[in-house]
Amino acid sequence: MWLSVIFSLLIFSKGLSARNPGIRLQITQKGIHIVNTVAADLLTKNVKTMKITKQTGHDINVNYDLTDIKIEKFQLGKSSFTRYTDTSLRWTAENIDLDIGGQYKYEYSRFFVKYSDKGSFTVNFSAMSFKIIIQLGTDGIGRPTVRTFQCVHTYGPIKYVFHGGQDWIFKLFAEKAIQGIRNQIQNNICGILKDLVEKNGQRVLSNVKVKIPVGNSMMVDYRLLSVPSMSTNYLEVHLRGTVLWRNSQTEASFSPATFPSNYDTTKMAYIAISNYVFNTMLYQAYRHNMLVFNITSRNIGYKKSMLNTTCKDNCIGKLIPQIAKSFPNCSVELHMTSTKQPVTNIGSIVSVTAEGNISVYVRELNNSLHYLFRVSAVGGSKLNPRINNGILYGQLARSEIQTNVTDSVIGTIDEKALKFLEDDILTPYLAPMVSGLCKRGFPLPIMDNFQFVQPELKLKKNAILIETNLKYIPRSGKSTVLRFLPKEEI
Ligand SMILES: *[C@@H]1O[C@H](CO)[C@@H](O)[C@H](O)[C@H]1NC(C)=O
Ligand SMILES: *[C@@H]1O[C@H](CO)[C@@H](O)[C@H](O)[C@H]1NC(C)=O
Ligand SMILES: *[C@@H]1O[C@H](CO)[C@@H](O)[C@H](O)[C@H]1NC(C)=O
Ligand SMILES: *[C@@H]1O[C@H](CO)[C@@H](O)[C@H](O)[C@H]1NC(C)=O
Ligand SMILES: *[C@@H]1O[C@H](CO)[C@@H](O)[C@H](O)[C@H]1NC(C)=O
Ligand SMILES: *[C@@H]1O[C@H](CO)[C@@H](O)[C@H](O)[C@H]1NC(C)=O
Ligand SMILES: *[C@@H]1O[C@H](CO)[C@@H](O)[C@H](O)[C@H]1NC(C)=O
Repeated sequence: MWLSVIFSLLIFSKGLSARNPGIRLQITQKGIHIVNTVAADLLTKNVKTMKITKQTGHDINVNYDLTDIKIEKFQLGKSSFTRYTDTSLRWTAENIDLDIGGQYKYEYSRFFVKYSDKGSFTVNFSAMSFKIIIQLGTDGIGRPTVRTFQCVHTYGPIKYVFHGGQDWIFKLFAEKAIQGIRNQIQNNICGILKDLVEKNGQRVLSNVKVKIPVGNSMMVDYRLLSVPSMSTNYLEVHLRGTVLWRNSQTEASFSPATFPSNYDTTKMAYIAISNYVFNTMLYQAYRHNMLVFNITSRNIGYKKSMLNTTCKDNCIGKLIPQIAKSFPNCSVELHMTSTKQPVTNIGSIVSVTAEGNISVYVRELNNSLHYLFRVSAVGGSKLNPRINNGILYGQLARSEIQTNVTDSVIGTIDEKALKFLEDDILTPYLAPMVSGLCKRGFPLPIMDNFQFVQPELKLKKNAILIETNLKYIPRSGKSTVLRFLPKEEI
């Protein structure tokens, strides 16, 4: 009994971790360097707002006050994010310059000797450094998380200067007062780092949308499949990338293929999108009868007369004389159902193949339907993928359709009639629909506040690979670090 429980747990957890991602993000050291720049910038801003409490005290014969203590300069000499373990990064900063300024006041009194003075002072920390580990993780609902630990900092020599006053009086309290300031910095720097990464990061990450709408009834599930991992070359993030029906959440019954390896590190980010992502969308569309529709004279626009059984020059009745004879002054309807889930193939091109039955009816004058024949159709479209503003688009390049007539109750259907149905009715109806779908585009899991710079698309086996550099766009009010997020649908 025990064994079987443990066994099934093992199999289950193995099954979970073995699942291939639908989307793989790889951020190279160059990409991480941008995060570093942003983090360094944010740290500088955050440190400058740090409050340093005034130092007051008295020593033999002297009372002193150091007030209005402010950080005047904080500059990271060298800052970097590097791999620490498989799931953590180390943020190291060296040669930090920290200058503090403030106002001093003292009163000296010994027997009848009294001195008092005030003025400004500066404290300069040099050669400061820190190291902090940032642990990557996921929360219960598939969003990324960040935690910090092992914060270590060191200091070089401290120089201070009091302007004006009596040197021999400063000697009485300066060391102690400056020590007080130094302690505050030492006690706070790790707290600031922790807040910067955790609070700031967490606040941002907790707002991450991991389910992004596509169209009106579907959404893409961009939840993390596993904890982001650090290898020597990449910070790698695996996302489910499955499309769900918005109010049912049933996943497609198939799974993504393994992604082809990528060893290139010349760009900042590599985003691989499996054909699985598009196939789950088609799966949902198929399963929820989105691929079932009727073409009637009411919904083919200016071509509506084409479906008339009687006309002067160009209509279906001209090509199928049987119906012109039996059903004059009527119109024909095509009822389409897809008979198999359409499939996206990605190889040297991107194509979508679909299969369906088209039942052809005539609608009589008293509105009753009369069955005529069925067309079984197999169609394929070639799509050219494009990328713009973090959205992946398809451009319909060409479509082909093959048809056969079956179950006719009106005898043989002429080839010309079929060709007419294909070229003049089906294609003009379907093409804008497919283009429309493609034009809506697919929202990519792009890092918030980051923009793609000169993205390139490459077709791999079963996947589209986007290779891109990134640009950080600071947004006023919102500061973000380490965000690898999907963008919300526009
Ligand atoms: C100390 O910091 C102040 C304020 O930034 C600056 O003006 C001064 O030059 C610094 N002194 C040294 C020795 O770095
Ligand atoms: C197509 O027309 C038939 C007959 O009028 C109707 O029963 C069916 O619901 C229609 N299908 C769609 C998708 O509108
Ligand atoms: C097609 O049929 C409709 C309705 O029966 C009619 O209004 C229209 O004029 C016809 N078109 C042609 C070209 O005969
Ligand atoms: C079809 O319409 C034409 C023109 O309106 C009319 O002359 C003809 O009698 C109609 N035929 C039938 C069978 O209703
Ligand atoms: C499609 O048409 C073929 C041939 O008429 C038929 O055997 C098949 O059952 C049809 N499929 C559907 C889903 O209507
Ligand atoms: C419609 O008219 C046809 C003959 O024109 C007839 O066979 C059919 O029963 C009629 N249908 C209805 C619902 O009246
Ligand atoms: C049409 O029929 C031919 C011969 O039966 C068959 O080879 C072909 O695959 C069929 N095409 C479609 C689209 O069903």
